[in-house]
Amino acid sequence: MTDIQSPALTLPVRSQELLDRLAIRRSAPAQQLAAPAPSGKELETLLSLSLRTPDHGKLAPWRLVVLGPQTRADIVANLTAMTERLPDPVKGKAVLSKLANPPLTILVVSSPVHGHKVPVWEQELSAGAVCMNIEHAANALGYSASWITDWYSFDAEALDVLGVKTGEKVAGFIHIGTLPEAPLERPRPTVDQRVEILP
Ligand SMILES: Cc1cc2nc3c(=O)[nH]c(=O)nc-3n(C[C@H](O)[C@H](O)[C@H](O)COP(=O)(O)O)c2cc1C
Repeated sequence: MTDIQSPALTLPVRSQELLDRLAIRRSAPAQQLAAPAPSGKELETLLSLSLRTPDHGKLAPWRLVVLGPQTRADIVANLTAMTERLPDPVKGKAVLSKLANPPLTILVVSSPVHGHKVPVWEQELSAGAVCMNIEHAANALGYSASWITDWYSFDAEALDVLGVKTGEKVAGFIHIGTLPEAPLERPRPTVDQRVEILP
């Protein structure tokens, strides 16, 4: 049982299972995500775990919106009407399937406290950490997930439709569901390529 509200005062213990899971984790192609997805108690667990995220100043500078299929259908209809003015309307419309198809989508909005001594950059990083926590929690519950932004995360008119207010940004749409088969692996950077280990 995952006790989120009153976690025991304890140090981490080695978990080979978690290490093995982290070693194989990867994103899903959003278009292929199908039912089932978390709902009910599982969704509550996922959301609670997601908010257990590092956050300088305890500002909770993010908010989550669970977008059910009907809400996304309405959003996609609105966004479709905007695609004609995009540089590539065909592609702009095609990527909307990633938003329409998955059984569950959580919109993570970076909602920083502007003018606070904690820099906005740090608050935005915390929103990214929420996204990653959602992916980990979804995987731990046995589902696949995909972190997507796409053009509508950066378009003023689209942000209006999404309810993202002035001063906020989309950190990501985390699509969650079940894949018919394991996704292909992608090339990964090696430690040698990306890490300096200093004495
Ligand atoms: C902030 C962010 C934004 C992303 N936006 C998009 C996107 O707009 N379209 C897309 O196809 N994938 C997007 N992705 C997903 C990546 O292209 C890629 O699938 C993912 O990073 C795979 O990594 P993983 O297998 O380690 O999870 C985004 C990922 C991140 C972290």
